[in-house]
Amino acid sequence: MTVQLQQRPHVAGVWLLLCYLTGAWSIPDPRHREALIQLEAFMQTGGQMVLTEAEQQLDALLFKMKQEETARAEFPPAVHFFKARDLIRTSPIFKLLQKMPKGGALHVHDFSMVDVDWLVQNVTYRPHCYMCGTDNQSVRFIFSAQTPRPLSHCSPWVLLENLRAKMVNSTDLDDRLGITHNLTLFTSRDPEVVYPTQDVVWEKFEQAFLAVWGLVTYAPVFRDYFYQGLTQFYVDNVMYLELRALLPEVYELDGSTHSRAWTLKTYQDVTRQFTTNHPDFLGVRVIATIHRGVNASVMAGAVEEAMELKKSFPDFMAGFDLVGREDRGRPLWYFRDALSLPAEKGITLPYFFHAGETDLEGTDVDQNLLDALLLNTSRIGHGFALLHHPVAKDLSRKKGVAVEVCPISNQVLKLVKDLRNHPAAALMSESHPVVISSDDPAMFGASGLSYDFYEAFVGFGGIKSHIGSLKQLAMNSIRYSSLESEQQEKALGLWQRRWQKFVSKWTFSK
Ligand SMILES: *[C@@H]1O[C@H](CO)[C@@H](O)[C@H](O)[C@H]1NC(C)=O
Ligand SMILES: *[C@@H]1O[C@H](CO)[C@@H](O)[C@H](O)[C@H]1NC(C)=O
Ligand SMILES: *[C@@H]1O[C@H](CO)[C@@H](O)[C@H](O)[C@H]1NC(C)=O
Ligand SMILES: *[C@@H]1O[C@H](CO)[C@@H](O)[C@H](O)[C@H]1NC(C)=O
Ligand SMILES: *[C@@H]1O[C@H](CO)[C@@H](O)[C@H](O)[C@H]1NC(C)=O
Ligand SMILES: *[C@@H]1O[C@H](CO)[C@@H](O)[C@H](O)[C@H]1NC(C)=O
Ligand SMILES: [Zn+2]
Repeated sequence: MTVQLQQRPHVAGVWLLLCYLTGAWSIPDPRHREALIQLEAFMQTGGQMVLTEAEQQLDALLFKMKQEETARAEFPPAVHFFKARDLIRTSPIFKLLQKMPKGGALHVHDFSMVDVDWLVQNVTYRPHCYMCGTDNQSVRFIFSAQTPRPLSHCSPWVLLENLRAKMVNSTDLDDRLGITHNLTLFTSRDPEVVYPTQDVVWEKFEQAFLAVWGLVTYAPVFRDYFYQGLTQFYVDNVMYLELRALLPEVYELDGSTHSRAWTLKTYQDVTRQFTTNHPDFLGVRVIATIHRGVNASVMAGAVEEAMELKKSFPDFMAGFDLVGREDRGRPLWYFRDALSLPAEKGITLPYFFHAGETDLEGTDVDQNLLDALLLNTSRIGHGFALLHHPVAKDLSRKKGVAVEVCPISNQVLKLVKDLRNHPAAALMSESHPVVISSDDPAMFGASGLSYDFYEAFVGFGGIKSHIGSLKQLAMNSIRYSSLESEQQEKALGLWQRRWQKFVSKWTFSK
């Protein structure tokens, strides 16, 4: 009580002094207000971008489109992506973003690049494809010349060819057996009911990867899948990809398997084939990944192997990362010995750690952000919790360690409901180094990069993000890629030409 009594006159004194200094009791100076507004506009992502006349015209158009978008009965970024997808597809802004050259996709996983419909219609219809149903309502697949050995916790294998031959309508079978629905999280049912908690959605997520596994690790499919994945990003006007890859031991029809080096080499071969067919696609680099559920000795082995691979594929392999649910896996600090091996041996193995994909504030896992930076990560995957860590945030800005923001992933995996409230809004308002990516588009019913750009630009970008913001985000994806500076210059030149074409085409057609 005494404290309050003593404080009151003091606070009142400061208040009076402030009023005196700013011209007692009058309305704030509008020029001062305008200057502050300009300052904030200047600070945001793309705020310092100098715009050409054509870009300004396009910006005026975009502004109008965005105002119309916010006036829609249902504002897509406020709605779960599964329900918003059809709304987004009808959006003029989305159509523009699809055409926009977006630069690179820097956070994409190997086995969620391609639409699930392609997996079902192309892959499961190939000969020798067997399926079984697990005890807990998932499925597994394998391609095999003979009936494969039974899998524990799974029904006997059935050859899909035989099963489908007995059916009048095989599309019906795909639906009834739930083939499609076991390979993706996307559902036309109410996502809040199907996935009420983070635990439920993550369990289904990991089961879906296991279901996809036997299809995509079969050698002929492995090649086609990756080529098809590159095609999907390419048609979405993405010109470069950094792929987080588990590098599995890919198998043949007779059950024999290949080494990880073979897998990496195959990625390289398919990339070459793709860039030969599409000379305006810049290429791919691979970030080798391992599941964070492993123990310290397995991790040490994986790091050793990654160092070897980096030596054999110095240009194609970008570095190393850990995948899997952070909240359930082991924190980075647990692996500090293994992850310090390259530095100890004087070998370069850049890191691209997932970190801060969590809302478990204050737990061991929540320290991953700081630890990732201490371990010299080149970028931060997600960094959803970065705002809770001012020191990590500061370090990330000072060291130019960009945050890979994947809005749809964060929404589907239940870190944020309404994408206007995504923490990247704060990062973008002060031009923190960020790139936009799509993580696992096929699992979320998205494809390429445009849906995530839409959520970023219309959702947490808000009305104030503009053509300069989009330009900055695209340029960031090259600037913060793992490419050498010379390659970055080349990539920027290529992107710039496509950008100019895009801007002039769009402004002329309107
Ligand atoms: C499946 O995909 C491969 C590779 O893209 C293609 O050659 C083949 O024609 C496709 N098959 C079907 C049935 O769609
Ligand atoms: C489902 O089965 C798999 C394989 O047996 C197991 O790893 C997983 O933990 C099970 N999930 C649940 C929710 O029981
Ligand atoms: C097969 O089933 C699907 C889904 O039930 C239906 O849309 C389609 O018309 C059916 N096709 C034929 C040939 O009956
Ligand atoms: C997944 O497949 C199993 C086994 O066929 C089926 O019982 C289950 O309903 C499917 N899940 C979904 C979500 O369709
Ligand atoms: C680590 O995991 C591997 C594979 O699961 C196992 O073989 C090994 O015994 C484990 N090591 C320790 C120290 O627990
Ligand atoms: C991180 O970088 C610092 C400074 O270059 C170096 O001393 C340290 O060994 C590096 N640590 C790791 C784990 O790479
Ligand atoms: Zn990821």
